[in-house]
Amino acid sequence: MRYTLMNRNIKILDFEYQQEYQAFLGVSKVYDLTYAPLSLQYCHSKELAHSFYQWFNDRKIPPMRDELQYLLKSLKYTNTTELMMRHYGLSLSDQYWFLPENEDILWEDINFFDNSYSSHNFLEATFRYSDFQLSSDYNISPNASTNGQLSKCWIQKNGKNILFKGANTIYRFEAICEVIASRMCEVLKVPYVEYQCLALSGTKSRALVSACPVMIQSHQEFIPSYHILQVRKKQITHTSADYELYLDILNEHHVPHAREYVEKMNMLDFILANEDRHLGNFGVIRNLDTLKWESVCPIFDTGRSLNTNVSRKYWLEEKTDMKFFTHDFVSSENVCRTFSIRISHQQINKMYELTGLFQELLETYLEELPIHKDDIYMLKKSFEKRIELFESIMYHKHLIIDD
Ligand SMILES: Nc1ncnc2c1ncn2[C@@H]1O[C@H](COP(=O)(O)OP(=O)(O)OP(=O)(O)O)[C@@H](O)[C@H]1O
Ligand SMILES: [Mg+2]
Repeated sequence: MRYTLMNRNIKILDFEYQQEYQAFLGVSKVYDLTYAPLSLQYCHSKELAHSFYQWFNDRKIPPMRDELQYLLKSLKYTNTTELMMRHYGLSLSDQYWFLPENEDILWEDINFFDNSYSSHNFLEATFRYSDFQLSSDYNISPNASTNGQLSKCWIQKNGKNILFKGANTIYRFEAICEVIASRMCEVLKVPYVEYQCLALSGTKSRALVSACPVMIQSHQEFIPSYHILQVRKKQITHTSADYELYLDILNEHHVPHAREYVEKMNMLDFILANEDRHLGNFGVIRNLDTLKWESVCPIFDTGRSLNTNVSRKYWLEEKTDMKFFTHDFVSSENVCRTFSIRISHQQINKMYELTGLFQELLETYLEELPIHKDDIYMLKKSFEKRIELFESIMYHKHLIIDD
């Protein structure tokens, strides 16, 4: 069967896909790549089919999604490709979609930025929870093309899109880390996605989830940094050195405050000991009317932090490993080498205040978490120690200023 890859109402290319055998048969026609995903714009024409297939595969719910088999079984799908194609490949992170041949649909009629949808089934299959009064009965939703490992579900309530995300770490308090990260970004003065946490009581379980709004508008797309680095494919080293390469590319595209905001993200990750800032968890926002790279993407997905996935006996250790432009972990010292922006005493004091909020949230949701009351003191202490370490590094670099 033939599909057209669309960007809103603009045709990009046709491809052939056989549902029965899940077989991608190739790109049969190219219309115009001007509005194509970045990774297709920068690939050699001979590699187009391969690059498209890779992009297409990355768009599906990944095989490592938590409880994927249960999700597919509950929704009565055999695989994630079928699920994505039945949902037209629609997403809330960009404006691409797949138009099946012989279907006469316009972007205006189908996109989820402007139209309502219901993810009732998806929510129930993901969190075994169904009590929300959701917006419509239309059972196509953006969930079939949202990636990431954690169980997650977009819902629409009172016209607003909200992403719920679960947990899979040892101590399962990712949602609390997301809230702390939002507050920390506020202190650092860097754009961020605002997260909240709430406990969903499902039919069979109660889960702490994070909730956040959509981070782009209907004329924008999120481009993850691994696609951005492809712009200078030959120079990629898969080491921390790619940091400068990444900034060079952002500067070439005149992304405002690029170095400042990326560096502040590094500071955030250092302080919260975030283990998960891989190349899919940050990037830029591109305007689809002008194709301008408008801004760095607001900071999102900082949940795997603050020891939520580290065994208790290591909580107070000084050395931390982080993701930093490599597939492997690097020592957090590598990351603090990038710090060059000044921070005020007042900002440092506000960071210490956040340890109180951390304690409060852990106490509030203690019942939902596999931790003991006594652990809270140690978790708070370890957060304080990270701030102390950050403060001392900044002090020795002469980067702490009076307010
Ligand atoms: N607020 C948002 N608005 C639009 N798209 C979003 C938003 N939050 C997340 N996404 C999209 O969903 C994807 C998965 O979200 P997220 O990274 O938060 O999940 P995750 O399961 O924690 O990921 P990971 O596998 O990196 O741990 C993101 O890469 C992004 O494409
Ligand atoms: Mg992610």
